[in-house]
Amino acid sequence: MFAIDLADDAQLRPLEVWHAEEFLAHMDRGREFIGQYIAFPDRAVDLDGTREFLRTNAEKAANDSTRLFGIWIEGTLRGGVLFPVFDAAGGNAEVGCWMEPAGAGRGLITKACGVLIDHAVHVRGIHRLEWHVCTENEKSIAVAKRLGFTLEGVQRENYLHRGRRQSTEVWSLLAPEWRSAAS
Ligand SMILES: CC(C)(COP(=O)(O)OP(=O)(O)OC[C@H]1O[C@@H](n2cnc3c(N)ncnc32)[C@H](O)[C@@H]1OP(=O)(O)O)[C@@H](O)C(=O)NCCC(=O)NCCS
Repeated sequence: MFAIDLADDAQLRPLEVWHAEEFLAHMDRGREFIGQYIAFPDRAVDLDGTREFLRTNAEKAANDSTRLFGIWIEGTLRGGVLFPVFDAAGGNAEVGCWMEPAGAGRGLITKACGVLIDHAVHVRGIHRLEWHVCTENEKSIAVAKRLGFTLEGVQRENYLHRGRRQSTEVWSLLAPEWRSAAS
C-alpha cells in the first residue's frame, strides 16, 4: 500500500473506509483532545458513524473536492491531515490536521502538511492554500506559522462547537511563497 515516510517509525497513507475500526479506536483515544476544536470526533462515536464519516469523505475525494490521509506511528493510527476543501479549477485549497496526544509534539503534522502543500502546489497547480483555526488553538496556529502561512483576519464567533461560539482565524499561503521558501 502507498505510504510516505515522515520518520523512521511514522508513515502518511490515504485514510479510507476500510480503516473504520482503526479510526474509531483512534477517536476513542483522542476524542476529547482532538474534538476541542473540530467536529468529526463527535460524529465518529460508533462504527456506523465512523464508516459514514469516512464514506462521505471518500465520495468527496471521488469528486476531487476533499482528501483525507492518516498518520500511523509504529503501526497505530494516531492522527491525520486533510484537504477539507480542494478546488482545482479555482486553484484554491484548505489544509487541516489532527493528532492524538500520544503522537503530538514531534513535528509530524508540520511535515505531513508540507507533503500535502507540495502536492497541491507542484502537482495540482493550486495557487492559494487556507488554514482555518480557532483563535484559542495555539498548537495549530504554531503549525500554520511554521509552514509560512500569513494571518489574514478573524471571522468573529462564526463557529458553533460543543455549545459555544468560537472565532476563526483565516491564514493563507500562496504558491510563490511556498516555492521561494523551499529554494
Ligand atoms: C493542531 C495539532 C494537530 C498540532 O499537533 P502538534 O503535534 O503540535 O504539531 P507538530 O506535529 O507539527 O509538532 C509540533 C511540535 O513538535 C515540536 N517538534 C519537534 N520536532 C519537530 C520538528 N522536526 N519540526 C517541527 N516541530 C517539531 C515542536 O516544537 C512543537 O512542539 P511545541 O508545541 O511543544 O512547541 C494538535 O494540537 C491537535 O490535534 N489539536 C486538536 C485538533 C486540532 O486543533 N486540529 C487543528 C484544527 S485547525
